Amino acid sequence: MKLEGNWSYPTAVRFGAGRIRELAEACKAAGISKPLLVTDRGLAGMDITKNALDILEAAGLGRAMFSEVDPNPNDKNLEAGVKVFRDGGHDGVVAFGGGSGLDLGKLIAFMAGQTRPVWDFEDIGDWWTRADASKIAPNVAVPTTAGTGSEVGRAGVLTNSETHVKKIIFHPKILPSVVICDPELTVGMPKAITAGTGMDAFAHCLEAYSSAFYHPMSQGIALEGLRLVKEYLPRAYRDGSDLEARAQMMSAAAMGAVAFQKGLGAIHAVSHPVGAIYNTHHGTTNAVVMPAVLKLNRPEIEERIAAAAAYLGIAGGFDGFFDFVMQLREELGIPDRLGDMGVGSDRIDEMVEMALVDPSGGGNPVKLTAANTKALFEACI
Ligand SMILES: NC(=O)c1ccc[n+]([C@@H]2O[C@H](COP(=O)([O-])OP(=O)(O)OC[C@H]3O[C@@H](n4cnc5c(N)ncnc54)[C@H](O)[C@@H]3O)[C@@H](O)[C@H]2O)c1
Ligand SMILES: [Fe+2]
Repeated sequence: MKLEGNWSYPTAVRFGAGRIRELAEACKAAGISKPLLVTDRGLAGMDITKNALDILEAAGLGRAMFSEVDPNPNDKNLEAGVKVFRDGGHDGVVAFGGGSGLDLGKLIAFMAGQTRPVWDFEDIGDWWTRADASKIAPNVAVPTTAGTGSEVGRAGVLTNSETHVKKIIFHPKILPSVVICDPELTVGMPKAITAGTGMDAFAHCLEAYSSAFYHPMSQGIALEGLRLVKEYLPRAYRDGSDLEARAQMMSAAAMGAVAFQKGLGAIHAVSHPVGAIYNTHHGTTNAVVMPAVLKLNRPEIEERIAAAAAYLGIAGGFDGFFDFVMQLREELGIPDRLGDMGVGSDRIDEMVEMALVDPSGGGNPVKLTAANTKALFEACI
């Protein structure tokens, strides 16, 4: 193995219950005096969002919100948000929400000053250097779910509303200037979202841990992230007001996202086309396809997973770990098959094609081919 890589763990995170009260100060630290708070429609009417706007207003930073954000946000949401940002004379974004609100908020701050279409900044090679970095507005990120870890990431996922393909848009300056991780914000998450987002964090840690690239820092973070999810996700699911469990899951989510610099894999490569076509929840979809991907990868990861199992206190090596995943899914009420989420077999060939070009597939320990990827979809549906 070539001992080589590009590593980046630079985010300033203010972590702790109640720290949303520091939101205005965080904006000022990021150089923002007229923020646009970006969130999704569901969160727009909730108390946690009103409270965040109150804090901004009380500090003299105005009270502006854009919430026309779909789950799996798309280019139309982005265009509308950029218009509101420009028309309102804003100088930064508070990206507030689950991955959908966070990603779209980050992308609005990125695109507000650009002239090229967003697709020119897909995460391919050095395409990000096409952007005018001096025109990128700062953003402060406030996660309200514990899953995507988008708050510590330099990318946003955007669905193309015409082709329904999910693309990763990347620029180093999309990285939030300051993050407020306040576990109290996640207390009101519905059970299914707690489960699905938590399993997204688990999938990030698992795929990063399993990928063959060289990144020992990520490897360690991924392993501890797996442990935190194992210990605390069932607790957060059973009792949403368990703040210790909520806090540990918030850490696990951020850890998953820094860990997946090391690579993702077939769970995400398969999940992205499903989400793009059927609008299923991202993390829940990951959890559904996880066992089939573990089986596919077994020959390459058996030893490594056995080591993780030992660390997690799971007996029985790879088989023990596999059984644990099946049990965890059941405990969290995750559907067994994609078919249970409304995914049919009629568009498998199209999804296989999309999965094969999905950038996350490159980290999968077993090389994805048309044949094994089709078999994966068949097994999952
Ligand atoms: N940028 C990245 O690195 C990255 C990584 C993984 C996934 N993603 C993207 O993130 C998105 C998924 O994010 P998500 O799983 O966090 O879900 P989400 O942001 O789509 O939110 C799911 C639902 O939960 C609601 N919600 C959020 N927080 C809540 C709270 N505290 N209380 C009550 N309801 C709440 C929202 O209103 C929404 O209806 C997808 O678009 C996916 O592509 C991005
Ligand atoms: Fe994910």
